[in-house]
Amino acid sequence: MNEEKGIMFDSELIAELKSQFYMPDEDPKSGSRLFFDNSGGSLRLKKAVEIKEALERYPDCPERAHETGLMLLDYVKKGTEEILDIVFDAKSGSLMSELSASQCMFQIVDIIMENAEGTNAVVSVLEHPSAFDAMQFHCEKHGRELRVAQANKETGRIDPEEVARLVDKDTCLVSIMSASNISGSVMDIEGIVKAVRAIKPEIYIISDAVQHAPHMVMDVESLALDAMNFAPYKFFSIRGCGYAYVSDRVANMPHHKIIAKDQKIFALGTPTPGNFAAMMAVIDYVASIGKKFIDSEDRKELYREGMRRIHLQERALLYRILEGTEEVPGLRHIKGVEISADPDSVEERDLIAGIRIDGYSIIGLAEEYQRRGVTTAPRDAASIYSNRIVNALGADKGLVRVSPMHCHSAEDIDRFLKITAELAAK
Ligand SMILES: Cc1ncc(COP(=O)(O)O)c(C=O)c1O
Repeated sequence: MNEEKGIMFDSELIAELKSQFYMPDEDPKSGSRLFFDNSGGSLRLKKAVEIKEALERYPDCPERAHETGLMLLDYVKKGTEEILDIVFDAKSGSLMSELSASQCMFQIVDIIMENAEGTNAVVSVLEHPSAFDAMQFHCEKHGRELRVAQANKETGRIDPEEVARLVDKDTCLVSIMSASNISGSVMDIEGIVKAVRAIKPEIYIISDAVQHAPHMVMDVESLALDAMNFAPYKFFSIRGCGYAYVSDRVANMPHHKIIAKDQKIFALGTPTPGNFAAMMAVIDYVASIGKKFIDSEDRKELYREGMRRIHLQERALLYRILEGTEEVPGLRHIKGVEISADPDSVEERDLIAGIRIDGYSIIGLAEEYQRRGVTTAPRDAASIYSNRIVNALGADKGLVRVSPMHCHSAEDIDRFLKITAELAAK
């Protein structure tokens, strides 16, 4: 097995996986199209949408003791346990659920800043505004200096030494994303945690995993993080909720809560069973991929194998999109195409590529792709969501983000590459 360049699923499995999503190859408005904007919201798993819809039909309160109430409560309880144990690999801590991953991030940063000692906090220049602004806003609110770690333009990563350079005994909080939503670069969170804790062992460290969660397993326990968040709508599931793991020591800090409830319960108001059930459908789906490769009945083991296989499939797709084949040149070999943060190895990257083509504006290029049936995301330099980030990566005009998904095939990638070559030749 050549894991370095990924391992592609066979075409039968790809067809089986695609059939479990809504609109994988076409939608009623655009007709046939390649959906290569999964970083902006991934294809939706039918089972996740169906169970959400089915549970929304019940008027019953999940806090009543009759059969239907108990059934709804069971989804909340099991969903909470499974998200913590299976998705985050947490042995302790609490689950925070909000309307979005950004809301989780703002809350967590506020709680830590209000309670942790120190005069400064460190964030990376590559963060999505939800994590960057949470740090800036709360540094201003709590009178702390904000220090910003710069990117390694070659790799698109934040080097542990760069973070360590900014941390001292007075740093209360470090917030570094798990993977970039613009370049797909996977951060060395393990190295960052080690470097930072060597300076201040009790420091608080959190990570925005919104772009990383659908691509690889998350390990809050082994990384000893204080918080990590993700967004189900980018993880094959539904819009309208965000989840975060919160460590015991953060959950034990004063925070917004219903006073009579346990200190570690963050939920304000009645929980939404359908949201938890939709995430359980995602876990089922990933575990079913694991089951194709290992013989186990253990749901967590199957989920982890499923995520590992998703990652290897995506790595193979990324390798193909970059290198192509003898018949269809990859992005690296098409004249006029420039790829942001493109180190040789594809091992530390999720399936996201930021590109430009000579002669096109960013918006114009995304429009040309759309006209040819490819949905991408223009991340232009004027966008409030990406200007700081594209500048930090040295792509000052911006880039078009291309983000396929694990259920795409080699043929899908080749179709995209042929369209790209056509555009570059114009
Ligand atoms: C890296 C990253 N973090 C956070 C978010 C925000 O997630 P949400 O829309 O759930 O608040 C996004 C959304 O694009 C993202 O890409």
